[in-house]
Amino acid sequence: MENNKKKMTTAFGAPVPNDDDSKTAGKRGPLLMEDFWFLEKLAHFDREVIPERRMHAKGSGAYGTLTVTNDITKYTKANVFSEVGKKTDMFIRFSTVAGERGAADAERDIRGTAMKFYTEEGNWDLVGNNTPVFFMRDPKRFPDLNHVVKRDPKTNMHSAQANWDFWTSLPEALHQVTVVMSDRGLPKTYRNMNLFGSHAYSLINADNERVWVKFHFYTEQGIENLTDQEAEAVVGKDRESHQKDLFENIEKGNFPKWKMYIQVMTDEQASQLPYNPFDLTKVWYKKDFPLIEVGELELNRNPENYFAEVEQAAFAPTNIVPGIGFSPDRMLQGRLFSYGDAQRYRLGVNHWQIPVNYPKAAKNFHPYHRDGAMRIMNPSEGIVSYSPNSYGEWEDSKEHQEPALNLQGGVDFYDFREDDNNYYEQPGKLFRLQSPEAQQRLFENTASNMQGTTKEIQLRHINNCYKADPAYGEGVAKALGISLSEVEAASDVE
Ligand code: HEM
Repeated sequence: MENNKKKMTTAFGAPVPNDDDSKTAGKRGPLLMEDFWFLEKLAHFDREVIPERRMHAKGSGAYGTLTVTNDITKYTKANVFSEVGKKTDMFIRFSTVAGERGAADAERDIRGTAMKFYTEEGNWDLVGNNTPVFFMRDPKRFPDLNHVVKRDPKTNMHSAQANWDFWTSLPEALHQVTVVMSDRGLPKTYRNMNLFGSHAYSLINADNERVWVKFHFYTEQGIENLTDQEAEAVVGKDRESHQKDLFENIEKGNFPKWKMYIQVMTDEQASQLPYNPFDLTKVWYKKDFPLIEVGELELNRNPENYFAEVEQAAFAPTNIVPGIGFSPDRMLQGRLFSYGDAQRYRLGVNHWQIPVNYPKAAKNFHPYHRDGAMRIMNPSEGIVSYSPNSYGEWEDSKEHQEPALNLQGGVDFYDFREDDNNYYEQPGKLFRLQSPEAQQRLFENTASNMQGTTKEIQLRHINNCYKADPAYGEGVAKALGISLSEVEAASDVE
C-alpha cells in the first residue's frame, strides 16, 4: 500500500517527482530551469538564515508559568498580579551577550534573561539580565559597548585592549565589571543564577498612584558557578552546555524554579535618596528597600522548533501592560527605541504575528495596523482601520493613562557625572561582601581577562579598583604582576 504520509511535497503541496537527480538535457548535459523542485529547494536554502540579534545572539528558550503567591495589588492594578494563585503562561530566552549565534555557552559574560508574560491585558516583556546593574548610565554609550565586545573589524578577533580601554574609561562601569569578573560572571547553568529586571520601573495601582519598582527572581536551584579552568574543560567538550542542561532538565520533568520579589520605592523616598534611583549602575540596598515576595516562576515546557520559537522570539521593553510602567532611567528610555526597531529589521514589521510573540492570552485584542510584509492575519474583527469613523471603533483606554510625572529643569544635555559621581561605593561594598577566596578569584579572573592590554590600561583599572577598596586595587595589581610603587606613581588618588 502506498504510504502517502512520507511523500515529499513542495511548499505548495505538489508531489516532488525526483529528489535525487536534477533534470538534465541529456544524460550528461546541463540542468533545466523547469526542474521546479531544484529551484525551490535551493532558493529556500539560500534564505534559511536571518540576521542574528546584534547583542545576545546565542540563547536558549523555554515556556513556563508564573504563579502569584503574595498580594501586591496595593502597588499595581496589573491583571497578572490580580490575585494570589493566579497563573500566567510565559516564555523565557536566556542568552550570553557578546558571543555570536554559534558561540560556546560557558563563557565569562553577562546572561540575558528575557521574559514574556502572556497576560490577559497583552504581553508584558521584562527584558533583563542575571545582574542587577549594567556598565553605563546613558544609552548613547551602548553601541560602543557592542563594538568593543564584538570582533575587531580588521583582525576579526576579540580585542582585550579595546574592551578594557572602554570599560576602564567609564568609572561607572566598575560595578558591572566587578560582577562579571567575580564568580557570578560565569554561571554553571542558566538554572543556577538569579534573574533581574535591573532597571527601575513603575507600578500603578487602581487609584492611579505610582511607586518605583525593581524586579528580582531568585533561583531555587542555588547559585552555582564555574571557575575559568572548569569552563575551559566544559567548552572543550561541549559548546552547548547551558542549552543541554536546560533542555534535558525540562525534558525529564525537573522543572527549574525562581522566587519572584519586588523592591518598592515611593516618589518621596526617591527624592531623598543620596544617589539617583534611576541610575542603572547602582542597586537599591535591600536593607532600605526590602524584598517583597510576589510569586514563583517555573519553566516546564521545551519549544518544539528552536528557530520558530526561540530564534524568532522578540522581546521589547516597550511591551508593558496597565499597572506597569517605565521610569526615567536613561538606559531604559533608550531601550524603548532599540528593540522594536531591531526586530522590524531582524524579523519584519509583522513579527508580532509569529506564535511565540503573539499576545495569545489578551482578552481584548484589536490590533489596528494592516498590511506589511508577511501579513497573515486579518485585522481582528477588522471592519475599519481608520479613525475617527462612524462605527464607534477603536476607543482608547483613557482610564489607563498614567499619573503625570513631575519634572525639574529645562531641556538640556545634562552631564550625569555632575548629578552623581559616586562610582566606587557600591563596587567597594560588593568587593567586601566576597570571601577572601572569592576575592582572590576576582583578582585572577581580572588579570587573565586583561591579558593583551597595555600597562596604561591595567594601571587605569587598578586605580579604579583602588578607589572602590585599596585591597581590591592591590589584589588586581599583584595578579597582574605590577608593583605597588608603579601603581602609586600612576595613581590619581589624593
Ligand atoms: C537584546 C539593544 C541594554 C538585555 C538586545 C538587542 C538590541 C539591544 C538591539 C537585540 C534585539 C533583537 O534583535 O531582538 C540594547 C540597547 C541598550 C541595551 C540599545 C542600552 C541602551 C540592555 C540592558 C539589558 C539588556 C540594560 C538588561 C538589563 C537584553 C537582552 C536581550 C537584548 C536579555 C536578548 C533578548 C532576547 O533574548 O531576544 N539589546 N540593549 N539590554 N538585550 Fe539589550
